[in-house]
Amino acid sequence: MTAINISQPEGGLDGGSPSGIGNVLHVQPLSSQESFSQQQVPMSADKIIEATNVSKWYGTFRALTDVNLTVRKGERIVICGPSGSGKSTLIRCFNRLEAHQEGEITVNGIRLHNKMRNVTEVRKNVGMVFQHFNLFPHMTVLMNCMAGPMWIKDVPEAEAKKTALKFLKRVRIPEQANKYPVQLSGGQQQRVAIARSLCMEPAVMLFDEPTSALDPEMVSEVLETMTSLARDGMTMVCVTHEMGFARAVADRVIFMDLGRIVEEGKPNDFFTNPQHDRTKLFLSQILRH
Ligand SMILES: Nc1ncnc2c1ncn2[C@@H]1O[C@H](COP(=O)(O)OP(=O)(O)OP(=O)(O)O)[C@@H](O)[C@H]1O
Ligand SMILES: [Mg+2]
Repeated sequence: MTAINISQPEGGLDGGSPSGIGNVLHVQPLSSQESFSQQQVPMSADKIIEATNVSKWYGTFRALTDVNLTVRKGERIVICGPSGSGKSTLIRCFNRLEAHQEGEITVNGIRLHNKMRNVTEVRKNVGMVFQHFNLFPHMTVLMNCMAGPMWIKDVPEAEAKKTALKFLKRVRIPEQANKYPVQLSGGQQQRVAIARSLCMEPAVMLFDEPTSALDPEMVSEVLETMTSLARDGMTMVCVTHEMGFARAVADRVIFMDLGRIVEEGKPNDFFTNPQHDRTKLFLSQILRH
């Protein structure tokens, strides 16, 4: 297979706007410019997620098989793979939205297991952004962002409001604070969902295809927000097929198929020199469009 390169977003990431990443996949020679993903997270950094030999079944169907993955503080991981390969299942296991049956998962020092009493403790540590936003429709944007800290962390209302406004500014929609989700565009709703997660000050953010339900023109504003979080050192695990984003931001790209991690590597290696036929086929399919 010929070498594939996913170009850097226009202007790179340190200066110009990263808008446009993800919705354009250029196949061109590798540039010598390195993305900030090449700044390596040291092996000594704290382990935020450690999954060891994790298997999960839905009834008799085995959705995950012997998955091993360590995510260190500050690392940005992109997970890709065909539909049904177990990507959502894996990250949902990380915040205990799904239970695994074999192996071990530890998240920010908390071991996840069947007898755990306090799943809320895990959720305090793990922010999750879904494909379909999952905002509370009957609450304003501001209340969506205040609810978690007030209800789960007992943060006083005034402080929760201050934090909510801080993170709404962070995702660049403070002016939408008093609207309801239905009054916002998809891209704006997704940025509220990101702000809402950030208000919990999580140790890691999980993203499950956060741009796949968006109209194309809104993809870049969400990717831009995610890129800026990555640049600020947020630990992130992103299920996405936005390969421009993966190329620019990820420390490691992980490819899953049939419930297993088939291959993982640094973006340059992953895109230019995939090792497994299944990875090559997948990349050739998604990069064709
Ligand atoms: N609640 C469930 N009950 C039974 N089977 C499920 C359930 N959720 C997922 N599965 C199955 O587990 C497998 C993995 O699903 P998962 O949603 O993790 O895949 P995915 O890689 O996220 O796919 P996609 O790219 O379409 O989102 C699929 O075969 C799916 O049908
Ligand atoms: Mg999925």
